Amino acid sequence: MLRIDAPLVTDRLLLRPFRADDVDALHDLRTRADVLRYLYWPPATIEQTRDVVAQRLTMNTLSRENDALVLAVEQRATGRMIGEADLRWLSVEHRQGEVGVILHPEAQGSGFATETVSALLDLAFDRLGLHRVVAQTNAHNAASIRALHRLGMRQEGHLRQCVHVAGVWHDELVFAILAEEWASTAPTGGVR
Ligand SMILES: CC(C)(COP(=O)(O)OP(=O)(O)OC[C@H]1O[C@@H](n2cnc3c(N)ncnc32)[C@H](O)[C@@H]1OP(=O)(O)O)[C@@H](O)C(=O)NCCC(=O)NCCS
Repeated sequence: MLRIDAPLVTDRLLLRPFRADDVDALHDLRTRADVLRYLYWPPATIEQTRDVVAQRLTMNTLSRENDALVLAVEQRATGRMIGEADLRWLSVEHRQGEVGVILHPEAQGSGFATETVSALLDLAFDRLGLHRVVAQTNAHNAASIRALHRLGMRQEGHLRQCVHVAGVWHDELVFAILAEEWASTAPTGGVR
């Protein structure tokens, strides 16, 4: 069981539970072609974004298998909500989880994704006691692949044509890291 009430503080970010006033920032993220390119989602309507934020308001707890913790990523220097990140509890018995992150293009290229996922991996291994955490990305998502390598995650799989969207087949890559690997390689800047 893991519940996040107070923000997680990293060097430059707050990872905090969603608030009702995150609708506009999340809607901007979920309607941009440059953000959605490898996510396969159509641009959200404002009603869909409001529904997503309403769901997110309660997604600050991992209490059973398949629960997802979803946090807003806020830049400490500006107070701006620049993205969202999630940690899903894939298996209680086998202590497995999955992480993901989405950043606004104006906040990319500064190491914020690495800093965000580092904080999630700290949570996953140190507080939830997971043994292995995976991340999955489109095989052409170069920025995501670089970030996962930078975090010390290992490519373990190449899933050929596993997603079919709008008549096109897409390959996905599976990355993973073990608790003992994270303990020996974690970059700085994680949760304080
Ligand atoms: C995937 C995604 C989160 C990666 O974001 P990112 O900003 O490229 O990743 P990082 O935060 O790790 O930043 C790394 C870049 O910042 C640079 N950087 C600058 N300051 C840095 C710092 N203090 N620490 C680390 N990197 C820094 C690095 O050199 C690197 O640049 P490069 O990619 O040109 O080599 C982003 O592209 C995104 O949100 N895409 C859209 C949604 C998406 O596809 N999500 C992934 C789904 S699986």
